[in-house]
Amino acid sequence: MKSSAVLSSLARRLEGKVAIITGGASGIGESTARLFARHGAKVVVADIQDENGQEVCREIVGDGGVASYVHCDVSSEADVQATVETALRSHGRLDIMFNNAGTIVEYRPLLDIDRSDFEKVFSVNVIGVFLGVKHAGRAMASAGRGSIINTASGASVMAAMTVSPYTASKHAVVGLTRDAAVELGRCGVRVNCVSPHLLASPLACRALGMDTRAMEDAVEKSSVLSAAALKAQDIAEAVLYLASDESRYVNGHNLVVDGGYTTTNPSLGAHLFASS
Ligand SMILES: NC(=O)c1ccc[n+]([C@@H]2O[C@H](COP(=O)([O-])OP(=O)(O)OC[C@H]3O[C@@H](n4cnc5c(N)ncnc54)[C@H](O)[C@@H]3O)[C@@H](O)[C@H]2O)c1
Repeated sequence: MKSSAVLSSLARRLEGKVAIITGGASGIGESTARLFARHGAKVVVADIQDENGQEVCREIVGDGGVASYVHCDVSSEADVQATVETALRSHGRLDIMFNNAGTIVEYRPLLDIDRSDFEKVFSVNVIGVFLGVKHAGRAMASAGRGSIINTASGASVMAAMTVSPYTASKHAVVGLTRDAAVELGRCGVRVNCVSPHLLASPLACRALGMDTRAMEDAVEKSSVLSAAALKAQDIAEAVLYLASDESRYVNGHNLVVDGGYTTTNPSLGAHLFASS
């Protein structure tokens, strides 16, 4: 391949691919939809926020990309199945499924949590991911290729960062991802997850009752890496890697994007070295 051809294939890393992005109307999903489209993917945004989702698609198309919106509640099997069928009917193939839609409940101690809180969070964060893996996985397995990426969280590897149903749901996403990676890997389909650290999206701001500035300030003050605040775009770049052929041998991986936060617990060090 000529060097100019190599450069242009690197510049548009998803050329010719078709991607579904759940939760694509906002935050991490929206950033990923825009980035995927810039890299040549035909994007299907699936969400329950219809106006936002349609607006995101209009803007992508206005910038020369290919995008369409589908109303899809990921906790409904009929909706998820119909979304996969729509992508296949419109574009003839499905290469990437980003199971990213998520929800949370307001912070409360575990002993004050209701059964309904668990059911609400699990129906979207776990059942929704399962349904996406199942229906995209069927289409991809019969084609013998594909990449599925599920959004977990820093709370998939560390406790007490957030409310318990959310922590449990994101641990479950990692388990499901690993099982799926083994089963679907035999069919040429890769399944990975991405685990973002706290970033100021509508979901996180609502759950913690904080505005963007206060949240970014709190994250910066507690972070391991000295860098500008984590943005949705940073997660989108990690997802782009997992979606693209550059990660062709990466399967069953949980890509934690947290500046190293979950590698350490600073409390003992702070106690030991407080006076030095
Ligand atoms: N923001 C963070 O700090 C953070 C950290 C770790 C993981 N995450 C995860 O990232 C993912 C994206 O969240 P975000 O931070 O971009 O928040 P966000 O609120 O900006 O986006 C979440 C999107 O999911 C959609 N959604 C919610 N329920 C849905 C359903 N039943 N069916 C379809 N769509 C639904 C919402 O309408 C919204 O567009 C979630 O899975 C979340 O748990 C976020």
